[in-house]
Amino acid sequence: MPSLIEQGKSPAEILASLRANADLFMSVYRHLEDRNLEQPVLRQRSFPSAIEAKVESTAAALERDGIAIWPGFITDPELIEELRCIVYRAQIRSQRLFATAADDELRVVDEALGWEYCRGGPAARAGIARVDFWPDRCRVPEAVARVWRDARPAEVIGRAYRVPTRPSHVIGERVFRDPRGDLVGWHVDRIMDQAKVMILLDDVDELNAPFRYRPGTHRALEEKKLLLHHYFSHGIFHCEVTAQNAMAIGTETRVCTGRAGDAVFFDTGGIHSRSVCYEGAREVLNLNFSDLPTAKNRFFEAIRGDAWF
Ligand SMILES: [Fe+2]
Repeated sequence: MPSLIEQGKSPAEILASLRANADLFMSVYRHLEDRNLEQPVLRQRSFPSAIEAKVESTAAALERDGIAIWPGFITDPELIEELRCIVYRAQIRSQRLFATAADDELRVVDEALGWEYCRGGPAARAGIARVDFWPDRCRVPEAVARVWRDARPAEVIGRAYRVPTRPSHVIGERVFRDPRGDLVGWHVDRIMDQAKVMILLDDVDELNAPFRYRPGTHRALEEKKLLLHHYFSHGIFHCEVTAQNAMAIGTETRVCTGRAGDAVFFDTGGIHSRSVCYEGAREVLNLNFSDLPTAKNRFFEAIRGDAWF
């Protein structure tokens, strides 16, 4: 990477060189994986010793496996219930608003509440409802703001990626059994560094759409080489992986069943998917860390122009 910059190439020329040469792209990508490269300095917060131990062990597991579970992350049943009500209410209101929206409309703003509902394309919208809370664009309900203000998630993510960070936005998601079907697919969210914290608001077992993750696949660069370069070259944000390829990378599938209040921390560069909802529903609140100031993200942001990856 330094040689590309030393050669005095413009960002657009660097982008073109990397798109044309998968091996060069991979050598740069591999270099940028090093979390000891020059990055903004994280000043660690201090916590009471029991929480400090959980923060540290969760960050270490997240860095190593790409996934870490913190059982009983939220213990206040009233807070969990309030968050469930918010996500459920969002589903009802979003269905009403989307019913009169054009078919290609993927986002709609609820003027009464200032919330933003979003959905996938026509083939990917059965069985799932989403509400996005953006800090600068909407009124955030107090229960969601309480989770947002919690210092623990940002500290875990910060220690795993060695950068200071905070959530970029929060997503409420309700997955439910839907007679129209249920499209679930293995994928990597994007090729830039990003992490999510998924807080379960319902008890989740094998029947109500547990999250699945292939541990270690956030780092399986050689195996993901073609996938990474393909999505980079085409400026594509959401990287789908066939089931066959998903099973060929990594050695196990972790199925994240758990109790309401548990939190799943994961690196979205690892291969993951929700599973089918056969019964009932499940709700989660996702804290998204999309703006990590890692060396990798700063490099890609500098060269991407209008591309989106
Ligand atoms: Fe994802």
